[in-house]
Amino acid sequence: MTAEAGLPDTLRELPAWTPGPGELADLELLVAGVYPLPGFLGSFDTAMVIAGGRLADGTPWPVPVTLSVPKDLTALERLVLQDPEGVPLAVLTIAEAWQDPTSQEWKLAGPLEALRAPAHGPFHGMRRRPDEIERPDGALLTVATREPLHRKQLGQLRQVTERLNAQVLVLPLLGGEHDEALVRALLAVRKELPEGTRIVPIPLPPHELDADREILLRSHVAAAYGATHLLADAEVEGTAVPVVAPEPWAYDADVEVWRPVARIEPDHVQAELTQEQLNDLLDRGEPVPDWFTPPAVAAELAVARPPKHERGLTVFFTGLSGSGKSTVARGLADALIERGGRTVSLLDGDVVRRLLSAGLTFSKGDRDLNIRRIGFVAAEATRHGGVAICAPIAPYASTRAEVRRMVSAVGDFVLVHVATPLEECERRDRKGLYAKARAGKIPEFTGISDPYEAPDDADLTIDTSTMAPDEAVRHVLDLLVGGGWIRGE
Ligand code: ADX
Repeated sequence: MTAEAGLPDTLRELPAWTPGPGELADLELLVAGVYPLPGFLGSFDTAMVIAGGRLADGTPWPVPVTLSVPKDLTALERLVLQDPEGVPLAVLTIAEAWQDPTSQEWKLAGPLEALRAPAHGPFHGMRRRPDEIERPDGALLTVATREPLHRKQLGQLRQVTERLNAQVLVLPLLGGEHDEALVRALLAVRKELPEGTRIVPIPLPPHELDADREILLRSHVAAAYGATHLLADAEVEGTAVPVVAPEPWAYDADVEVWRPVARIEPDHVQAELTQEQLNDLLDRGEPVPDWFTPPAVAAELAVARPPKHERGLTVFFTGLSGSGKSTVARGLADALIERGGRTVSLLDGDVVRRLLSAGLTFSKGDRDLNIRRIGFVAAEATRHGGVAICAPIAPYASTRAEVRRMVSAVGDFVLVHVATPLEECERRDRKGLYAKARAGKIPEFTGISDPYEAPDDADLTIDTSTMAPDEAVRHVLDLLVGGGWIRGE
């Protein structure tokens, strides 16, 4: 079948499912032959891989590649797997439906028939399947990385390449929030890479593996692309291709170059910039030194991690109805606007319910949906470097955690618990709702006949029964100034 063809009639009747982003990446690697597996793994293979890093037939394989589905899809024979826009990508013939003993999730295993390659994503024009890569006659050294190559790594790579007389293949591993910054940072150092180096992005989101298994997985990916060697920090037993660990390098402050530590006078070795120091420079918007990385790479680092005073931020207030959330949130929005330099989106609970969440009830399901919608909008504002201020009740801890995750992937998140006691909220009863709830006229009213799970992960707790709104706003501002998100006056 050609890539442009629609779904054959025989498949049109099949149910379809959209796997999660990590599973879609796995699907792509399975059908492209990067993973040497026939399809998603079953229960026995998965257990064996987790326990001993081997498939049931003894083949070494480091990572469980599985597909989770809702229980109602487990009784089928075949299932179409589609991308988030509903474009069918592959047909799974279900060999086993099984329940994960740890997560309790239902999983499907079985062979896959590819319908088409996923055809989008930044830099998709640079993607290549293993069979599209020319194999050099001699050594092919592969670097599979989620991090840009700084001056040290560039020097080490050149040294190993010369020693092996190798061609070089750089595989940026995609699946983080700033894939484009990673690829751009690698393209930016093209001239400093060994002659003829190819760069091929691979969709490989982090699989939460320990360091050894991560190297094993990268070695399998490298092997699929014809690598004879993998450049990595540590040699690990059982890799699919041999690992070459470069000798230690450092910056020689005397002659101002990076070179092997063995060739530097000990008192001329300049301490490496730690990840923490680097993050700190980026957070404060200070320049990353040229001795550490080329300026074009530094610029991409700043894109992936903007200075805090320019980075997107969500301030999420949670608390009972009448606790003062709206008042403090509005006061905060006004204060930020007065200071200038930040765009502010205010997502107040009652206001959201008039438009974005119009029609939703106060059932648990609808409350969760309401909070997810607020989280979605807040994450978009945050992604664009704005400040989103949210003030719903948000009674459930797990839904708040979901919003924290969504936002944290694209910027920063601060949770403020407006912990005004129920008695005080009820005494104020500005909207007369508590009286109605007590009289049984409003069912499922938070704090009266519906739960409120107080957060244990709040970055700040304020109680408006013991302080004026202005003071509460000042506490939040202090937190934001202290954290570097806004500048002190
Ligand atoms: S949430 O639970 O989904 O986060 P949200 O903040 O949007 O709630 O809406 C809460 C507001 O809706 C309250 O301030 C109150 O004015 C009104 N409201 C109406 N019915 C209820 C109810 N059953 N429980 C809580 N608030 C309600």
